[in-house]
Amino acid sequence: MRVTVTVNGERRTADDVWEGESLLHVLRERLGLPGSKNACEQGECGSCTVYLDGVTCCACLVAAGQADGREVTTVESLGDAEALHPLQRAFVDAGAVQCGFCTPGLLVAAHDLLARDPDPEDSDIREALAGNLCRCTGYEKIIDAVHLAAERMAAPADGGAR
Ligand code: FES
Ligand code: FES
Repeated sequence: MRVTVTVNGERRTADDVWEGESLLHVLRERLGLPGSKNACEQGECGSCTVYLDGVTCCACLVAAGQADGREVTTVESLGDAEALHPLQRAFVDAGAVQCGFCTPGLLVAAHDLLARDPDPEDSDIREALAGNLCRCTGYEKIIDAVHLAAERMAAPADGGAR
């Protein structure tokens, strides 16, 4: 089947999508967007977190056909090596990235949190990121990174936010 989605503001089409193929597979393997990671493919780890019509979800649990005609926003929309989003910069600066496999999903989930709550408490961050597993960092540095990004995003002179 053919699936058409608006990804990061651009209309994209994938052909010969098989029944049951996940949105994550389409993004990574057909549309050249490998930022969202495939770690468990069971909705357990959050490494594949994307926005679907503005709501975060695990792309591995969404059938590509369900996304047809809808809007998907991936971690690639946040920034790139030349222009990091304040969250990406903060993850680097706070030492919140080790193997990095969990990072894209954490960035999207943290982005969603800061859009709703620009100055979250530790407990808010832990709750918002509860669906995102990290095997490396012990989470403390991730929480530090979200606080750091929040501080910087509240002070546009330090880099501003998208
Ligand atoms: S790969 Fe989707 S939740 Fe783990
Ligand atoms: S940095 Fe390795 S899983 Fe999080």
